[in-house]
Amino acid sequence: MSTIEPSSSIRSFYRRRGKVRPSKLDAYDRLYPVLGVDRQQPPPLPEIFGRTAPVVLEIGSGMGDATVAMAAADPDRDYLAVEVHVPGIANLMMRAEEHELTNLRVFEGDAVSLARSCLPADTLDAIHVFFPDPWPKARHHKRRLISPENVALLRSRLRRGGAFHLATDWEHYAESMLEVLDADPGLSNAHDGFAPRPDWRPVTKFERRGIAEGRQIFDLEFVRPEQPLSLGILAHGPQTLVPSRCRRRAARDLRVLCDHSQLGGDRRHGQARDDRTGARHRRQLLQRHGQGLQLLRGFVDAVGRQ
Ligand SMILES: C[S@@+](CC[C@H](N)C(=O)[O-])C[C@H]1O[C@@H](n2cnc3c(N)ncnc32)[C@H](O)[C@@H]1O
Repeated sequence: MSTIEPSSSIRSFYRRRGKVRPSKLDAYDRLYPVLGVDRQQPPPLPEIFGRTAPVVLEIGSGMGDATVAMAAADPDRDYLAVEVHVPGIANLMMRAEEHELTNLRVFEGDAVSLARSCLPADTLDAIHVFFPDPWPKARHHKRRLISPENVALLRSRLRRGGAFHLATDWEHYAESMLEVLDADPGLSNAHDGFAPRPDWRPVTKFERRGIAEGRQIFDLEFVRPEQPLSLGILAHGPQTLVPSRCRRRAARDLRVLCDHSQLGGDRRHGQARDDRTGARHRRQLLQRHGQGLQLLRGFVDAVGRQ
């Protein structure tokens, strides 16, 4: 059993002040021992659910109504909701009890700490992040849950072929999510840009509020591909494997990488560049595509031999 490490000082949530209603506190005390997951030492997933089934991690389940509806409609998968807001957790557990759900459990705490210390790699069938706190002020952007570091961590917990579903009503955050997820070397966008709204995603309070205040809703769906991504596959792989926007970017990166490295390829492009800028650019590209580099070398060698 692993132990939860403390959250980092930069948290994606704030503890809301205000009294918790006694009925919610009673429900929390009565139901957490039944439907809640140990806050210090979460047991392995099959032990939590009493079976081995695909697991969906719902980060920031809020009041939990949407999570309960999804779990009720999807009995073959297990849902692990993670939330820090006690009244929301109490509400979720009351609804889960009403529906007699056996495939929904809740962890009270920070989803990032849980993923880092207690969820094994290559495990989750899907991760949901619906309407995360937007942190709209520029000085708070560092608190956004969808950051390159958190995405790399969460992606590593997805099984190969697993999906990352997100939604937000904040355009700036939506653009930032798209950029961060697109740049992650181990994820591939399942759509060209934003995704259509999935018909299985229930409307939540936050979505309703966003619409009422005139904001647009943005959905995103990324997958962790069955095969590790490589520039070669991305640039020249079958059309169905990766969307064209990804392929175009990979083809461009591939050309630049070839120019600025000893990998071979057309060097004319690189000669026009200042050497230092070239080296910096190449470093960025290697970071972005690090895990595909070995495949890239093989790919370039093979092209060179043709
Ligand atoms: C804006 S609410 C959205 C709730 C719900 N998904 C919905 O659409 O109604 C975001 C929720 O995420 C929770 N949250 C933010 N960061 C979290 C973290 N690192 N771990 C767990 N919950 C988190 C907050 O407490 C808050 O309840």
